Amino acid sequence: MIRTEELTKRYKNLLALDRLNMVVEEGDIYGYIGPNGAGKTTTLKILATLLEPTSGHAYICNYRVGKDNKHIRPLIGYMPDFFGVYEDMRVDEYLTFFAAAYRIKGEKRKRIVDDVLELTDLTGKRDAMVESLSRGMQQRLGLARALVHDPKVLILDEPSSGLDPRARIEMRALLKELKKMGKTILISSHILSELQELCNKVGIIEKGTLLFSGSVDEVRRQIRRGTTIDVRVAGDNEAARLALEANPLIERAETENGVIKVSLAETAADFTFIAKYLVEQGFALELLRQEEPDLEDIFMRVTKGVVS
Ligand SMILES: Nc1ncnc2c1ncn2[C@@H]1O[C@H](COP(=O)(O)OP(=O)(O)OP(=O)(O)O)[C@@H](O)[C@H]1O
Ligand SMILES: [Mg+2]
Repeated sequence: MIRTEELTKRYKNLLALDRLNMVVEEGDIYGYIGPNGAGKTTTLKILATLLEPTSGHAYICNYRVGKDNKHIRPLIGYMPDFFGVYEDMRVDEYLTFFAAAYRIKGEKRKRIVDDVLELTDLTGKRDAMVESLSRGMQQRLGLARALVHDPKVLILDEPSSGLDPRARIEMRALLKELKKMGKTILISSHILSELQELCNKVGIIEKGTLLFSGSVDEVRRQIRRGTTIDVRVAGDNEAARLALEANPLIERAETENGVIKVSLAETAADFTFIAKYLVEQGFALELLRQEEPDLEDIFMRVTKGVVS
């Protein structure tokens, strides 16, 4: 659906995007994560046909960005990170305007405006002036506008930025709805916990370089090697630690605040053997837990040490 090949963008002498190779497949919800200035907006603008890359290529549904823009534009709905205020325009006029820009006419246009208002929960605000809407409503309107031509692919640049917790939850529910409708979604954010349950894939970008790209599970697996398992037994913890350290599937076992932190050897498939092993050694197990790293952890680990 979306593919980039060695996509590069240079602003004068600043390399904003460095040979990006990214693939988003049909039905994916791809979370594009990175700190401020990482190159997220630059990438999304190129994909939305609004910015020319310095080198490399990008494709949407096998159409090449820059060459086949007139085929691409009807296929994508782009929600920019920031959109200007339209004064003296009502919500329904605003959407009608954009529907007209996509040459949607007459009854169909009316119906579509009704539909996207309904979907974004703005029906009650259809006669309100755009500039009078709250931030959360304006963001939803921005999304409604990106949906009027029923695009297959949505490119959303931080749709939840600046929203309060409640509005974030509403935005997330809306995105889930769009996922159910079969849209392919590329969504940027630096709020990771938000993307975790929504996305099936993530890409982590820092300083124009894609550090990680893959399924949320794959990324977790890659990180797991560096993840420790917490163990505690009733009674002699030190004896248990020594027993653990003697096991060839365990690389290291160190006590920290009364808990044994176990690092597995590469040969260990998972940590479940620990329970059986300790019980066999005569220990009563009190605690056995692997911290599932969340995206926030992954992000911190991956970007650690990459400083501007
Ligand atoms: N028009 C421009 N001219 C010069 N430099 C630019 C321009 N737009 C972006 N940059 C620079 O390119 C880099 C990437 O910016 P970009 O806006 O793509 O980052 P981002 O990941 O979207 O960040 P944020 O999380 O703050 O939105 C930054 O260093 C930025 O200063
Ligand atoms: Mg940005």
